[in-house]
Amino acid sequence: LSEPALFGQWRHGGFVISTDPARVDIDTAARWLAETSYWANGVPRDVVARAVAGSLTFGLYVEETGAFAGMARVVTDRATFAYLCDVFVLEPFRGRGLSKWLLETITGHPDLQGLRRWLLFTADAHALYERYGFQPLTSPDRVMERHNPDIYAHAAPAKENNP
Ligand SMILES: CC(C)(COP(=O)(O)OP(=O)(O)OC[C@H]1O[C@@H](n2cnc3c(N)ncnc32)[C@H](O)[C@@H]1OP(=O)(O)O)[C@@H](O)C(=O)NCCC(=O)NCCS
Repeated sequence: LSEPALFGQWRHGGFVISTDPARVDIDTAARWLAETSYWANGVPRDVVARAVAGSLTFGLYVEETGAFAGMARVVTDRATFAYLCDVFVLEPFRGRGLSKWLLETITGHPDLQGLRRWLLFTADAHALYERYGFQPLTSPDRVMERHNPDIYAHAAPAKENNP
């Protein structure tokens, strides 16, 4: 008897997308998010590990070597709502359509069909997400948030205390 595949896997142009969270290179992802991203600066490694494990995470890999090339994760109930976040492609792999393939794969995922709402935040990639149906909030006055932008500010290792 064949079991249904637990995790999805898609191949295209020498790259693989997988939803197996165990494949994510947490060290590289956490380092990129903590040091380079504009939204999660200073995020501790264990927070990234828990976020990846607790989300529907789409990892992007070089097919031949398995090297981690980027990711996106979806926080979702898989029935009504999905929040898309931590979308990035590592620099050597940019400019060849991989983020568009990632977005196509995510929005086409069988567990993410028929949802009432998707949300995301972006500083400058609006044009990328518009292709997949995202639009500015229609009623911002109906949306509230609890936001703690400095949550990771004190989490970074205090280098000055380590002579
Ligand atoms: C944004 C990012 C994921 C794009 O990845 P990529 O694989 O190089 O993108 P693609 O090759 O699939 O092309 C993306 C398309 O979206 C467009 N685009 C819109 N906003 C963009 C942005 N801020 N950065 C890059 N591309 C953007 C590009 O012009 C391109 O359109 P084209 O096909 O008409 O040329 C990548 O630059 C990245 O990781 N940036 C840093 C992290 C980030 O900003 N993530 C998004 C946060 S919400």
